[in-house]
Amino acid sequence: MDTGKAYPPVELIPWDPTDEQQFQRLYDQRVACMWDDDLVAEWKGKMLGGQKVVYWIVLAEDAPGRDRLLTDHVQRFPQERDALSDTAARIGQAERTPTMAPFLPIGHVAIEDFPERNVQFSLPATTYWVKSLYISWAVQASGLGRSVMAQLERVAAAPPFHATFVALDTIPPAFQLREDVVAAFYDARGVPRPPEIRTNEEWYLRQGYAVVARGDAVYHWVNPVTGERLAVSLVFMAKAVV
Ligand SMILES: CC(C)(COP(=O)(O)OP(=O)(O)OC[C@H]1O[C@@H](n2cnc3c(N)ncnc32)[C@H](O)[C@@H]1OP(=O)(O)O)[C@@H](O)C(=O)NCCC(=O)NCCS
Repeated sequence: MDTGKAYPPVELIPWDPTDEQQFQRLYDQRVACMWDDDLVAEWKGKMLGGQKVVYWIVLAEDAPGRDRLLTDHVQRFPQERDALSDTAARIGQAERTPTMAPFLPIGHVAIEDFPERNVQFSLPATTYWVKSLYISWAVQASGLGRSVMAQLERVAAAPPFHATFVALDTIPPAFQLREDVVAAFYDARGVPRPPEIRTNEEWYLRQGYAVVARGDAVYHWVNPVTGERLAVSLVFMAKAVV
């Protein structure tokens, strides 16, 4: 849905998993995200094999409030204060010329090829999946996630992907709003609970994604506060991008 709002412009710079500093930064951001920090090494293999393309999310030079947002991010995550260099020489199977320019990412997002899921959910073979989206907790609710999704849909529709559909999976509202989950994501980290917790499903629905399926206990998540291993259901959503 077009809200008529202007969202801060972002750039997407491919992750270079062979660069130690970039590998470590992705790990640090996954720890902060609280999902899948144990999968970064696996993603390196997928990235080098062209199955998954992880992008850093970088505020564009002309993004309103850029300096404030970067300051907030670095204050909250001091281990992320050093700039990285744009060194990735490939995007999937396609070659690219890295700019070698310095940048400071405030999150990351991936595009992934999932042919078996396309078949499972009767989606066109030209469907690509948005995975692993994370916006720094320090700058969430600033319009950046919205900006990233719009940009990512354009990237997916263009070469080398040529996607006609973009799909994704996310946690259902019932899980996201569980008291123990909210306590782990906010209270345990000293982050004030927002007055209203907007669920991811609702957030994607507002961006034109439709629910294509729901799956029970597709995933497992260990609550870092209680150590409890929880079965997580997922909601699968998709949107035409051409
Ligand atoms: C989900 C996530 C990517 C959203 O990114 P974000 O930058 O915080 O989202 P935005 O600021 O762009 O969202 C803007 C919209 O959400 C609304 N919004 C933002 N925070 C809100 C809140 N706490 N309550 C209600 N609405 C809210 C804004 O009003 C705006 O609405 P619009 O649709 O009219 O424009 C981010 O919260 C995140 O990284 N979460 C942790 C990891 C995660 O859950 N990733 C998704 C995996 S599927």
